[in-house]
Amino acid sequence: MSDAILSTFTSGEKEETVKSDKVLKAGFIGTGWIATTYAEEMDKFDDIKIVALSDLIPGKAEKFAERYGFTGVNFYPNGNAMIDAEDLDIVFVCTYNTQHAPCAIYALNHGVNVLLEKPFTVTLEEAVEIMRAEKASGKLLSIGFQPRMDENWRQVKKIVDSGELGKVYYIQTGGGRRRGIPNSTFIEKRTAGIGALGDIGCYSLDLVLKAVGYPKPLTATGYTSAYFGANPKYNNPADAARFNVDDFAAGFIRLEGDIILDFRISWAMNMDTPGDTIILGTEGGLRIPSTDCWNGSFPKPLKIYKEVAGEQLEYEVPMRRTPEGLFYRKIRSFADAVKYGGEPPVPSSEILYNQAIIDGLVKSAELGREVEIKIPEI
Ligand SMILES: NC(=O)c1ccc[n+]([C@@H]2O[C@H](COP(=O)([O-])OP(=O)(O)OC[C@H]3O[C@@H](n4cnc5c(N)ncnc54)[C@H](O)[C@@H]3O)[C@@H](O)[C@H]2O)c1
Repeated sequence: MSDAILSTFTSGEKEETVKSDKVLKAGFIGTGWIATTYAEEMDKFDDIKIVALSDLIPGKAEKFAERYGFTGVNFYPNGNAMIDAEDLDIVFVCTYNTQHAPCAIYALNHGVNVLLEKPFTVTLEEAVEIMRAEKASGKLLSIGFQPRMDENWRQVKKIVDSGELGKVYYIQTGGGRRRGIPNSTFIEKRTAGIGALGDIGCYSLDLVLKAVGYPKPLTATGYTSAYFGANPKYNNPADAARFNVDDFAAGFIRLEGDIILDFRISWAMNMDTPGDTIILGTEGGLRIPSTDCWNGSFPKPLKIYKEVAGEQLEYEVPMRRTPEGLFYRKIRSFADAVKYGGEPPVPSSEILYNQAIIDGLVKSAELGREVEIKIPEI
């Protein structure tokens, strides 16, 4: 990454790690579905204690505590009230997307380290505001992009970093579902802000951008549509009636370093797959054979394509397991960064570029033309 923004967030000097007995006091903002994935991991963490829960829906946090056996916790009607009353080390922001920015900014401004769910935000402007709060607070902010912690995706990055592909110049990525429109708070602008593009598109973009070193996005040409979510033929009538986000998006993004990113993502389509993820380099190519690779899944091994002594060869890369699971890694790596210092596992400086692409695709789709991506100074 070459941008000045990134140098603002470069990690400090590495200190010798000394095992800390500190138990982190944690709270949740939002106790919906994603919060349950954290709660299910909690008995693996003897250094995180859940002390407070908040949710806008009366009684929801109490039920959540009961279900997961969190005793002695305090309950609050919203995240700000919890931050005001508690002395938390960390907060898990598990709200729907449109509440990500206000909740994360409030917590950072009050000196609390934040693990924020994905997508980072709805707009680029919100992402910038969060990063400014992060910078002013000196606290840690990480974002819930657990698919990048999959061992196979780490392998993709290692292969790119090894130089075996030469100069990378073209990436095709995305995927998604033939039928898989979520419901609840995911399908309304008021709560989600964006649809498939933000929900699963953000992962898909993250995985390939991380692999190639998160080059700065320069321009975007975007397309979004909603032919399925709002149609009672494909969605239940009550959900179809309130559906007002995208269920499919496509984009063509120019990245710094003369790299083209060709992308599409779907919650619903009349096709089994919009294609594999491929990374083309001057010395080799990489195929990631999965329409589900946005969530870290690798149903089949990835393949490297190379020319060796004039022969066109293909190699399969052995599949790897991620023994502890991605959700465990997401929480563990964040807690370790808070306890021992260093870079957050998913730094905002990277995800800012991810959000800038999503924002650029939305704006381009609205305008019907290519847009320049302008990223403000933090
Ligand atoms: N990392 C992942 O794998 C993953 C998977 C699914 C969802 N998510 C993300 O997690 C987020 C939440 O998704 P969900 O399915 O849990 O949604 P949800 O609607 O089930 O839950 C969100 C909860 O947040 C509460 N809330 C909103 N604003 C609040 C505030 N200011 N204070 C307190 N509570 C507040 C709502 O009342 C609701 O109960 C979304 O941004 C989604 O994209 C991440």
